[in-house]
Amino acid sequence: MATFTLPKNSRITEGKTFKAEPGAKNLKTFKIYRWDPDSDATPRLDTFEIDLDKCGPMVLDALTKIKNEIDTTLTYRRSCREGICGSCSMNIDGLNTLACLKPIDDVKGDVRIYPLPHMPVVKDLVPDLTQIYAQLRSIEPWLKSDTPPPPDAERRQSKEERAKLDGLWECILCFCCSTACPSYWWNGDRYLGPAVLIQAYRWIADSRDEATGERLDYLEDPFRLYRCHTIMNCARACPKGLNPAAAIGKIRQMLVERQA
Ligand code: SF4
Ligand code: SF4
Ligand code: FES
Repeated sequence: MATFTLPKNSRITEGKTFKAEPGAKNLKTFKIYRWDPDSDATPRLDTFEIDLDKCGPMVLDALTKIKNEIDTTLTYRRSCREGICGSCSMNIDGLNTLACLKPIDDVKGDVRIYPLPHMPVVKDLVPDLTQIYAQLRSIEPWLKSDTPPPPDAERRQSKEERAKLDGLWECILCFCCSTACPSYWWNGDRYLGPAVLIQAYRWIADSRDEATGERLDYLEDPFRLYRCHTIMNCARACPKGLNPAAAIGKIRQMLVERQA
């Protein structure tokens, strides 16, 4: 399916309203971005009234209820429904987060749901991740070592070496951080962005990896790395509590140290 970026000045129009069934008492209103680039000239916001007495507690539960019971054409990604797969990232109540970890009760007033910002849209809440996955591939996110592993054994790490990966390995590639980063918004074609850079540092920091020099060579570039201006939106947006800006800072520090 083709993906499209909206022309500048496109307006989001008011869409359809789906009322709750009569007698529902515990009502919550969801306003959800809808756009099928194959058939819609402009996006719209559809309104769904949901009876929370007949819905699970998370925003993803509401989306599932809408898709199952009200409008089967609503399109979004999800898989694990427990904050592991990173599929259900979207913009809820103005913040990028995971729909499966976002309690409906956390949102005062109507729940407004949009796709991750500043990304082309495939349909409704599904962003096109083609470019960001190509950027991820570019940092070669796998162990690179010329030394063969010990026979019949894993490559060993000390506890201290393993601890250096904490705060990095937990990244689930939901891209809430990159799509909250102004530098990535404006230079996403050349700046790798916080999600890809925290992944890059995850391999640089791994004691078993022997490609540190070539990894740093690749990142030493005015755009790939140095477009980070320490605005810190990335750390605020991460639903796993990670700090990509700190990882970016460590890469920069390593580049300074190897020049000294
Ligand atoms: S700290 Fe860097 S990566 Fe994080 S939001 Fe700011 S510019 Fe983007
Ligand atoms: S650092 Fe956090 S926000 Fe960014 S991709 Fe990883 S888990 Fe998602
Ligand atoms: S469905 Fe997997 S992180 Fe939300």
